[in-house]
Amino acid sequence: FFFFFNDTATTEIYTLSLHRRSSDLGLHRLEYRGYDSAGVALVNPDGRLNVFKCKGKVSDLEHFLDGKDLGGNIGIAHTRWATHGVPNDANAHPHYSESENIALIHNGIIENYRVLKDALEQNGYTFRSSTDSEVLVNLIEYVRATSGCSLPEAVRQALRQVIGAYAIAVVEKGNHDRIVAARQSSPMVVGVGDGEFFLSSDAASIIEYTEDFVYVGDGEIAVIDRNAPLKIVTLDNHDAKIDIKKLQLSISQLEKGGYPHFMLKEIYEQPRTIVDCIRGRINPDTCEVKLSGVIDHRDRFVNARRIIFVACGTSWHASLIGEHLVESICGIPVEVEYASEFRYRNPIIREDDIVVAVSQSGETADTLAAVELARKAGAFVFGICNVVGSSIARATDSGAYIHVGPEIGVASTKAFTGQVTVMAMLALAVGRERGTVTEAYYNEVSAALLHLPETMEEVLKVAPQVADLAKIFTYAHNFIYLGRGYNYPTALEGALKLKEISYIHAEGYPAAEMKHGPIALIDAEMPTVAIATPDHTYEKTASNIEEIKARGGKIIAVIARGDEQVRRSADFVIEVPVIAECLMPIVVSVPLQLLAYYIAVYKGRNVDQPRNLAKSVTVE
Ligand code: AGP
Repeated sequence: FFFFFNDTATTEIYTLSLHRRSSDLGLHRLEYRGYDSAGVALVNPDGRLNVFKCKGKVSDLEHFLDGKDLGGNIGIAHTRWATHGVPNDANAHPHYSESENIALIHNGIIENYRVLKDALEQNGYTFRSSTDSEVLVNLIEYVRATSGCSLPEAVRQALRQVIGAYAIAVVEKGNHDRIVAARQSSPMVVGVGDGEFFLSSDAASIIEYTEDFVYVGDGEIAVIDRNAPLKIVTLDNHDAKIDIKKLQLSISQLEKGGYPHFMLKEIYEQPRTIVDCIRGRINPDTCEVKLSGVIDHRDRFVNARRIIFVACGTSWHASLIGEHLVESICGIPVEVEYASEFRYRNPIIREDDIVVAVSQSGETADTLAAVELARKAGAFVFGICNVVGSSIARATDSGAYIHVGPEIGVASTKAFTGQVTVMAMLALAVGRERGTVTEAYYNEVSAALLHLPETMEEVLKVAPQVADLAKIFTYAHNFIYLGRGYNYPTALEGALKLKEISYIHAEGYPAAEMKHGPIALIDAEMPTVAIATPDHTYEKTASNIEEIKARGGKIIAVIARGDEQVRRSADFVIEVPVIAECLMPIVVSVPLQLLAYYIAVYKGRNVDQPRNLAKSVTVE
């Protein structure tokens, strides 16, 4: 979200920028984070509070604002990436409180919004939207109404009841002197201008107005008041230190969070995106997995005779891992289909089938067509998507969003690990209902999922070593990626990453398949990436590596820390932490993402937008 505050001059800038078709409007700078609706709230000098919002892009909002009363010297604005509630006018931010005396914008997820909403409804509150954010603005109003306290105090007391992630900004009717903001886990900065203040989720949207920033800390509340110095307090009502930092980064770099490419940013986001993916779905105390999409359709999953995954590209690779997870944990036969093949081969689909559609964008034409075919045949369709309210998500009977935030880089990274994480939770939830998973294994995998963010932080430490290794292999024109079991799909995914951004031909194979032909390709010019992490086929993979070595092939092996056996035969090793075998694709995929990224960078490729590719293939 983006807003600033100050004198009439700023109002003109603010108002003009809302009208100008220029790209300097702060909200435009935030659209890369995803948008499906946008809005603005302004407080007039006479105290009138006006909220204008609509579905669509920021440019749609600008058209929507034509002719509206845009007076006001403080404003808050928001471009939405839906997490709760489909993209539409009602779910767009800002949200009015019920009385329309308060307006709020929110970036994040309120985990306990259901409990808070029920309590507010019992106190007579009604809601216009299906968002968690509207619950928050009404909670603030309720606290204010019942305690008669100031807006900042009402915000503080309300947030003490909230569990989840938030960066919020709040304004109120009748007070055009003050904005109250707060954050927990979601980013927010205060821009300190010359007699003016700015607040934003991302400094990129305000860097052209000031280079002086105050970073609001987790659990802190910022009170920006025309008639008082900037004040920041903690949720416990203690004053927080105000430390103004000068920021020198280009706008483009800022939009990438300081990373050179969105893809690298998204690789490094994975520890946090897995937190967001798991949030509210695994009880940290009991390790119990709860997916509402499974709970609401328990009998469907308990009685399922077959599960069919339909997907494309990376999502198809994730589905192969899903197949292994579901068959081994739930005991349900699984088929994995390329959506493009499934839709045209007149497949046999039964009413007791469950079709799982996996799609980051939720707009892939082939996958959407496969969903519609399955629906017509009477199957139950479950979606695993990232974009809330996307076509595929809306076409399914139920689903589980992966909640990894907008994935900008064309090469999928955090969406892949988010998909596999959701599939692991799905398998555990269904396996428990079907009684096909032991308590010990259920708890082992669930605990490993809870610890996954830390594991991902650990595995990201190999990045400098992988960057050096990549320099050695920019010469290659072909690569082979090998894996077995859960890591056969990981090998396929690693190969896809390399080919789609470096344009080097790469193929993934089950390691044992090498002797059925592909080993004829091996020579000093054909490097092999071999995934040899511990599992019941480790010794077989170690032998495959020896066979390649004996034919002069160069080998990069992904191994467990401390593995001395494969280390002796491989030319290069990348060591990763070891967790539950069924989750190792999530860990192993990180060095493979990094290897593809650095090779592509050294070859001078357009990493975020590789030639010939689109982020979402909405055509056949
Ligand atoms: C993956 O890196 C590619 N961008 C591509 O294979 C992608 O996974 C495929 O087009 C499917 O997209 P979806 O997940 O949005 O349906």
